[in-house]
Amino acid sequence: MSESTGIPRIGDTAPDFTAVTTDGEITFSEWQGDSWVVLFSHPADFTPVCTTELTAFAKRSDEFTARNTKLIGLSIDSIHSHLAWRENIKEKLGVELPYPLIADLDTKVAQKYGMIHPGESATVTVRAVFVISPQRKVAALIYYPLSNGRSVDEIIRLMDSLQTSAEHGVATPVNWQPGESVVVPPPKTTADVKARAGKDYQHVDFYLAFRELDQPPSANS
Ligand code: BEZ
Repeated sequence: MSESTGIPRIGDTAPDFTAVTTDGEITFSEWQGDSWVVLFSHPADFTPVCTTELTAFAKRSDEFTARNTKLIGLSIDSIHSHLAWRENIKEKLGVELPYPLIADLDTKVAQKYGMIHPGESATVTVRAVFVISPQRKVAALIYYPLSNGRSVDEIIRLMDSLQTSAEHGVATPVNWQPGESVVVPPPKTTADVKARAGKDYQHVDFYLAFRELDQPPSANS
């Protein structure tokens, strides 16, 4: 197996590909349509941490759909392995995976997305998450090692945060949840400093202020 190539970075166009999946062959960009996408890799079928992750994504899939977000998984396993694992999860855990899994046996997709980290493993993908916008840009990426499962709560929170930023042109603070105040972008000029000082924001200092999402922004926010 060849080594990982570059990792697509935030703002890059998400690499397109055709692949065999449990829903049949897809061309990724056509499959995506106008949706956001969470493309996530797992190390291997029939392994315990991966089973907990894929089951958790399945149980929360309605919440992704409500956010106009499609889920798609990937590992370097055969389509037969994916199909058998899905059946096993249904039988043993009573959970049907409502999203497709990419069978990336030739590692073509894993290499495009830098999902093989040879220092961790040369033969399986790490736990990567790529959030891809409807404009086909990489909006966010997360990488976890083989030993640690991801947080579906955090990925849903990230979707809310990214979509709020995309829709309203605002930034969100640490641990932000929908309904909470957003951050007013920092001033770039002395005129910005004066303009925002007169606004009905929650001012902490000249560079740090919060506002409600439904509050009209100032010229620089
Ligand atoms: C797991 O999913 O449990 C797992 C997979 C690969 C390496 C270690 C753990």
